[in-house]
Amino acid sequence: MKKVRKAVIPAAGFGTRFLPFTKAVPKEMLPLVDTPTIEYIVQEAIESGIEEVLIILNTEKECIKTHFGNNPVLEKFLQSKNKLEDLELIRKLPNQIKVQYCYQQKQLGLGHAVLCAEEFVGNEPFALLLGDDVYVGDPYPATQQLIEAYQKTGCTVLGTLEVPYEDVSKYGICIPGENSTSSLLLLESVVEKPKQEVAPSNLAIGGRYILTPAIFQFLKTQNKGTGGEIQLTDSILRLMSKEHVYSLAIAGKRYDIGSKKGFLEATVDFALAREDLSSDMQNIINQRYKK
Ligand code: G1P
Repeated sequence: MKKVRKAVIPAAGFGTRFLPFTKAVPKEMLPLVDTPTIEYIVQEAIESGIEEVLIILNTEKECIKTHFGNNPVLEKFLQSKNKLEDLELIRKLPNQIKVQYCYQQKQLGLGHAVLCAEEFVGNEPFALLLGDDVYVGDPYPATQQLIEAYQKTGCTVLGTLEVPYEDVSKYGICIPGENSTSSLLLLESVVEKPKQEVAPSNLAIGGRYILTPAIFQFLKTQNKGTGGEIQLTDSILRLMSKEHVYSLAIAGKRYDIGSKKGFLEATVDFALAREDLSSDMQNIINQRYKK
């Protein structure tokens, strides 16, 4: 069985849910405390054993490239001021992994974005990490959990979470086969953003996937689906005619940072988790609470 060595991170969307911020700055650069959200996603990939990362961009998002590259001018400045901790901070990531890029010319949907990664992926299984979903995996990263499930099954694995029924229309929803009880389930079907009234379950795809390269043959011929977009979920459904597809309930906490509420929740929790900020954050919360 081939090792999962590569990860794909789509980041070519317009980020309309975060306007006006996203008029000039990609939503992937929104910080949780002091670190862009996309850096947490790349870190998760590295901590899961991924060796190569591809970020799918559009031409308005060059600052993402700047963030993951070296900055010799800033490095020289920090060195001259003897700010060695800051120097280490900005050098760490470029030294850990070489991020590659490709461009999605038209925003035709997630399935179309993933198809842009075909050349990078080649004939290997790969991890797909969506930037709106930030995980604090427990006891280890979400992508690592999925890679382990891939190693057991040799098949596509979708990371899932249970959502309230009123929210099912925001997600790809999984239909497990009969007699499914463990957290790793053989799936019978998937459906993208069903209406609550017809939703077959509340088991939602949570922005993490291990996909086999067979997905590309279906993405190439995928018709538009929900929202007039080329949907990855629709191609996964067609993939099921050829290969088994599993779901794995991801253990840990998920933040939906594509929503303002989820973004604020992550900001508070990430600050509380930081040694240098937790007591300040706690005090801010306590003072507000007293009022
Ligand atoms: C995408 C996928 C959907 C998945 C969701 C997870 O939807 O199409 O299947 O459940 O991400 O965040 P989006 O949120 O991009 O509309």
